[in-house]
Amino acid sequence: MNSSGKKLANQQWGGRFAEGPAAIMEQINASIDFDKKLWKQDIAGSIAHSTMLAHVGIISEQDKNLIHQGLQKIRSAIENGQFEFSRQLEDIHMNIEARLAEQIGEAGKRLHTARSRNDQVATDFRLWVRDAIDELSIAIKNLMKILTLRAKEYSATPMPGFTHLQSAQPVTFGHHLLAYVEMLSRDLGRMIDTRKRLNESPLGAAALAGTSFPIDRKMTASLLGFDKPMANSLDAVSDRDFALEYLSALSIIAMHLSRMAEEIVIWCSSPFSFIKLSDAYTTGSSIMPQKRNPDAAELVRAKTGRVNGALIGLLTVMKGLPLAYAKDMQEDKEQVFAATETISLCLAACAGMIDDLQANKENMLRLASSGFSTATDLADWLVRNLKLPFRTAHHVTGKIVGMAEKKNIALDQLSLEEMQSVEPAITKDIFSVLSVEASLASRTSEGGTAPVNVEKAAQLWLERLKDMS
Ligand code: ARG
Repeated sequence: MNSSGKKLANQQWGGRFAEGPAAIMEQINASIDFDKKLWKQDIAGSIAHSTMLAHVGIISEQDKNLIHQGLQKIRSAIENGQFEFSRQLEDIHMNIEARLAEQIGEAGKRLHTARSRNDQVATDFRLWVRDAIDELSIAIKNLMKILTLRAKEYSATPMPGFTHLQSAQPVTFGHHLLAYVEMLSRDLGRMIDTRKRLNESPLGAAALAGTSFPIDRKMTASLLGFDKPMANSLDAVSDRDFALEYLSALSIIAMHLSRMAEEIVIWCSSPFSFIKLSDAYTTGSSIMPQKRNPDAAELVRAKTGRVNGALIGLLTVMKGLPLAYAKDMQEDKEQVFAATETISLCLAACAGMIDDLQANKENMLRLASSGFSTATDLADWLVRNLKLPFRTAHHVTGKIVGMAEKKNIALDQLSLEEMQSVEPAITKDIFSVLSVEASLASRTSEGGTAPVNVEKAAQLWLERLKDMS
């Protein structure tokens, strides 16, 4: 406030401004409450920038050293929770720069030479997303490993396989779990792709047009671990594709985890009772003492909405924005921060639940045997042994299933004579393919559910995952 009770103009650009902003302006404009998350990346960017400025002779070595010392002090103040962030200074960039000038005077005021907050924020945010990708990649690999270990344990455990959520053919529980490992490995691939494409440096694009100073963008790019500088200054400050790609990849992860969560909910439900989750991942009901609710799975399923929301939110922010920078783009961060936290939580919750669950093998086997689940095996037998065309075999099998259904018994409980009444050429060898175990063991085609396949696939994943870490 000045003596007349009016707010002072922002000290970072106040030269042309006599008065400060309206309270509501500060409220809508200030981003410090959320972009303080970028402090580490902002300091790293400033250290790289000032190192380069000194290297090419735009600032003195002495000023550079003062800047580095000052930034290090600010870093430890923030780390120790002793840095007071100010809304009046709008954002993380101005908070840090203003403190630096307070600490070291003139030298601090030289830091912003040949730079703008536009290339600065683009750089910080890219660095932040890159770090987040690295952290989430570890969490994805962790979930893949837990799934693989459980898959190995259950590589020969029969469960009903479904299509349309109707009993289709028996599969092994291990095979089912490994399907998620494949899904997550594609998620990991998307993380790696996104990281590759985002790893170019916007720094040095300045406000939008580049700068008249003889800067070395390759140097700042390499100091910050970027592969190279972005080629076009307008694109450098206005591109948020990297955040969108990242959010798309997170949305697909969220979708995968919601499918896993939904299956956990189904598997835990008492009519299914395929698995049991311990007290650690369930809650009780305040009224129904028998209940054990899979709340964590339900919440993972639900949280997909937040992540999809973040993607749609940022797509909408970016849609129709003219080049180059516009303040709209300040709305990019909260979505990305929130989605990252959500995915990190969901990956951890899924890892916990998969690690925790115990399969109810008897029940799974019982249900795997029901619903005439080996009907396809019967049809395949007719094709293989009687050389029937598959369509004909399908028809014959349908009649046999109808007979069993009428008698309310399983396929292998029918007598040979009953089957022969439909197709006289059937021999007793047919019974060798009608059990769940036989059906599973026969599914040895590449990628099929036979326990030998599952065992091998799990082993392969364990080796790959070891190489990845
Ligand atoms: N806080 C701003 C953001 O996040 C930094 C860039 C501000 N640039 C500007 N020209 N006002 O987008």
